Amino acid sequence: MIICDGCCCGRVEKGHNEVPIDKLEAAWEANRLGEAVKLTISDCLGPCSMHNVSILKNESGNIWLGELSSWDHYEAIVEWAIKSSEKMEGSKLPKILEDRRFVRVGESVVRLKDLV
Ligand code: FES
Repeated sequence: MIICDGCCCGRVEKGHNEVPIDKLEAAWEANRLGEAVKLTISDCLGPCSMHNVSILKNESGNIWLGELSSWDHYEAIVEWAIKSSEKMEGSKLPKILEDRRFVRVGESVVRLKDLV
């Protein structure tokens, strides 16, 4: 699990939403997720236009999430991590996060919800 807190993501002074790093780290610790699902706070991951960005890693590869705008999104990430650590539901992504998925195509991004 990689949470971007770089030059754009979380930069309130640029008009973006704060990344709740303290709450995430507390949730990771409270749920003892550290060994099962590693939490990494990262500098810029590249697609700044999708602030706030995260990458979920699973057996299928990387899932890019963007436009994370509230604690509800990050709380869903915590729930996904708990289920992943318990090998429940095959790490199925909560609906609230499915809507935030995107893929990178070269320098561009494509929101998956725009494809359906
Ligand atoms: S600062 Fe998050 S993707 Fe660039």
